[in-house]
Amino acid sequence: MPLALLAVLAVVSVLVLAPRHGHAQTVGFAQVGSESDWRRSFTDSVMHEAATRAIDLTLFNADGDPERQVAAVRDFIRRRVDAIVIAPVVLSGWTDVLEEAKAAAIPVFIVDRAVDADPNLYVARIAANFNLEGKLAAAWLAQESRGRCTILELEGTAGSAAAVERKRGFAAIIAEFPDMRVVGARSGNFTREGGRAAMEALLADLGTGPPCAVFAHNDDMMFGAIEAMKAVGLEPGRLPLTVSVDAVAPALQAVQAGILNATVELRSNIGGEIFDVVQAYLRGRRDFPKWIVIASDLHVKQP
Ligand code: AHR
Repeated sequence: MPLALLAVLAVVSVLVLAPRHGHAQTVGFAQVGSESDWRRSFTDSVMHEAATRAIDLTLFNADGDPERQVAAVRDFIRRRVDAIVIAPVVLSGWTDVLEEAKAAAIPVFIVDRAVDADPNLYVARIAANFNLEGKLAAAWLAQESRGRCTILELEGTAGSAAAVERKRGFAAIIAEFPDMRVVGARSGNFTREGGRAAMEALLADLGTGPPCAVFAHNDDMMFGAIEAMKAVGLEPGRLPLTVSVDAVAPALQAVQAGILNATVELRSNIGGEIFDVVQAYLRGRRDFPKWIVIASDLHVKQP
């Protein structure tokens, strides 16, 4: 190929791949809300990482409202940002707006919770495996209770990937143990207040003695549930056993104090992983796996 033609091609590809606004890359981030300790740390990580990379980030906090979150993504499209990052409140309701982003040639990155839309409508999802988190919690409980346990379950936000998959993973493991079963379940919406109210209602419904264990889909709900259990004279961490998800700093302290027996870590400091993918895409890379998995670990008391 003649050198002049190569030079023209190089200039054209730089123009095509450069951010539309010339200087800082502009990214719209549609976040779930600020319902939990984990969520607040996650927002901090994304904002810190954007600032470190001189990315012009617009954060929208949906306060748990799926419709407002979709409207915010539409606004990002209208403003022609270079990329959109979505941590979806719920799985459903995304197809139309993702098609609109695609038609506008704005790449979308799904983080944390999943969507149930066609994966061709977004570049990649960067997130932990919530199903595995439920399985890790159940496997720990099966071992600890020798496979005999009545369980109360505190569920996260209805219709969210985190609640749906944690429940499914947990159920898949305890189904292997005929003497383990969930005897009551309620949503606490991933908040501390919700966890307390849900546990008060579950204990009232249960009527009889304490359950063998409580599984909460996040640490905040478990903290609310612990307050409710202590208020009726139970000793969480002994009877019932307690296992949750997130492994935020206060939960790790509660594990060491013996009030929380185990927590599955959901890493919140993933701003770096997210912007590595976004920026690589904007530089022209296209060969991403559809799901970039963030590892999960189970934490128990250390000697
Ligand atoms: O989607 C992840 C979940 O959302 C976290 O486990 C919870 O704390 C948050 O609200």
